[in-house]
Amino acid sequence: MCGIVGYVGSKNATPILLDALEKLEYRGYDSAGIALVSSNGIEVKKTRGRISTLRSITGEVEAGGCTVGIGHTRWATHGEPSDVNSHPHLSRSERVAVVHNGIIENYIELREFLAEHGYVFSTETDSEVVSELIDYYYNGDPIEAVRKAEMQLKGSYALGILFKDYTDQIIALRKDGPLIIGVGEGENFIASDIPAILKHTRSIFRLGERELAILTKDGVTVIDKYGERIEHECEHIDWDVDAAEKGGYAHFMIKEIMEQPEVIAKTINPRIINDKRIDLGLKRITDDDLRGIKAIKIVACGSAYHVGVVAKYFMKKTLGIPVEAELASEFRYDDPIVDEHTLVIIISQSGETLDTLYGLREARSRGARVISIVNVVASSIANESEDVLYTWAGPEIAVATTKAYSTQLVLMNLLNWHIANVKGLMRDDEVARAITQLREIPEQMNGMLSDHEQMQYLASLFFNCHSVFFIGRNIDYALSLEASLKLKEISYVHSEAYAAGELKHGTISLIEDGTLVIALCTYRPLLEKMVSNIKEVKARGAKVIAIINHDDTQTEGVADHVVRIPECSEYAIPSLTIVPLQLFAYYIASHKGCDIDKPRNLAKSVTVE
Ligand code: BG6
Repeated sequence: MCGIVGYVGSKNATPILLDALEKLEYRGYDSAGIALVSSNGIEVKKTRGRISTLRSITGEVEAGGCTVGIGHTRWATHGEPSDVNSHPHLSRSERVAVVHNGIIENYIELREFLAEHGYVFSTETDSEVVSELIDYYYNGDPIEAVRKAEMQLKGSYALGILFKDYTDQIIALRKDGPLIIGVGEGENFIASDIPAILKHTRSIFRLGERELAILTKDGVTVIDKYGERIEHECEHIDWDVDAAEKGGYAHFMIKEIMEQPEVIAKTINPRIINDKRIDLGLKRITDDDLRGIKAIKIVACGSAYHVGVVAKYFMKKTLGIPVEAELASEFRYDDPIVDEHTLVIIISQSGETLDTLYGLREARSRGARVISIVNVVASSIANESEDVLYTWAGPEIAVATTKAYSTQLVLMNLLNWHIANVKGLMRDDEVARAITQLREIPEQMNGMLSDHEQMQYLASLFFNCHSVFFIGRNIDYALSLEASLKLKEISYVHSEAYAAGELKHGTISLIEDGTLVIALCTYRPLLEKMVSNIKEVKARGAKVIAIINHDDTQTEGVADHVVRIPECSEYAIPSLTIVPLQLFAYYIASHKGCDIDKPRNLAKSVTVE
């Protein structure tokens, strides 16, 4: 996810673009740039780093400077954060400059096509092909050039485009990526999101799918994908800037919970070929290497570790080899038994957690093969792994992870099935079926998220509780670890996750009248046992909320409250079960008035031991 902005009017564009980009840093902040067009041509200033770094190179804005420009703040997906990979991308001819939010899925094919026509590329990005492709088709008519280029693009794009020959206009185009038009007095704007332009105008409209807009200071013309001019009614935005940065949500955490279906799809889809084959794009670890793997260790911290505990259960079952999840801070001092036949999977949202990085180094020092699952491109863990699979969750602002956790979870499924297929343990048709079921998750999750009132209600009943026990068996136990951590880290309510069968060996002494127990009961083979465990704690005065399958009739009569997950495949159950538990933690913390996005004592990434 990146942030794009554009300004056309009578004022200096530079300070307007820089301020607007600062309001979009929550969309990406590893590099940034602006392009300005005037009779002297197109001038581009761009750099790795945050907007403050960009300010330092744009220098003092000369009075009466350029009044037309575009800007970009980047969250790298293809091509590491660097000066050259940052946007805007200026075509070699210097006739066209582009800022892009989204992913061009066929950029390699387009680079080859353009190279055959003499084009040379200087970046590793997918976005650079857009400026060169528009240049390729440009014969004096900017709209024709943009539309012809668009016909070749596959993927998602929100574009801001400048033409050297047209110093009074910006062209905008979108497909799948968000792009709003801000309508001012004698000035007009484009932006990925509302916060960027609220300071200047509250009249906006959202560009429709594959609509093209031509902005001058005097007006905005919109052309639909059929070439017809269309009008858009402006809406008046009455949010303040803070609310706007959160898309109208009260906190980044709830916004990111709601983004999970979208980012799960973004993380899965580019890795599925023809709806039935997995292509993880591994560069160093070959299929032969994977066939030789005799054991797997998943090494991480916090919620990333909890993904590993969930994945351990389904990988052991599929691959029939020892699979363990280990806390990185323990693994690195544990004299781990790993060798060249061990695959160590490192999971980290930030890619900078020091315990995890040292775990990675320990594994490599002992000859293990290392694949990492990381959300931040070119982070330390990504750079030191043999292969890295990026989650495309976009920047995660809330300290308590949700969307990164969910994208890690689905990516572990793809990795598991790829290894199983390579080892001959899963046939192609079984992989195809599993992929189909995995791709149903976003829709199923949307259904659960639209029904968040039940969790809001349950939180209103229990937000004053002093201690909560999450219990489950097998994968449900793994999920209870994450559910418990979510509650602790944002609401400061003490909580423990327990293997349900273990509770009676001591800790059940803590269960007393009114103690809240949340029983995860989705793992069908052990449901009977879970019903018994619920009866055990209820006999001691506990209140029980049970998370159950859509067709479970046993638990309903035993628990005080039940939360159903929809009918789904076994692969989808972990991803869906965690959603009500994230919401429960969020609403409890909300009722308690906690600082949800920045909980006390916590950091988004712990880069100390
Ligand atoms: C903790 C965070 O500091 O680090 C957790 O609060 C996170 O949310 C854990 O899961 C690991 O961080 P990362 O970036 O390595 O996934």
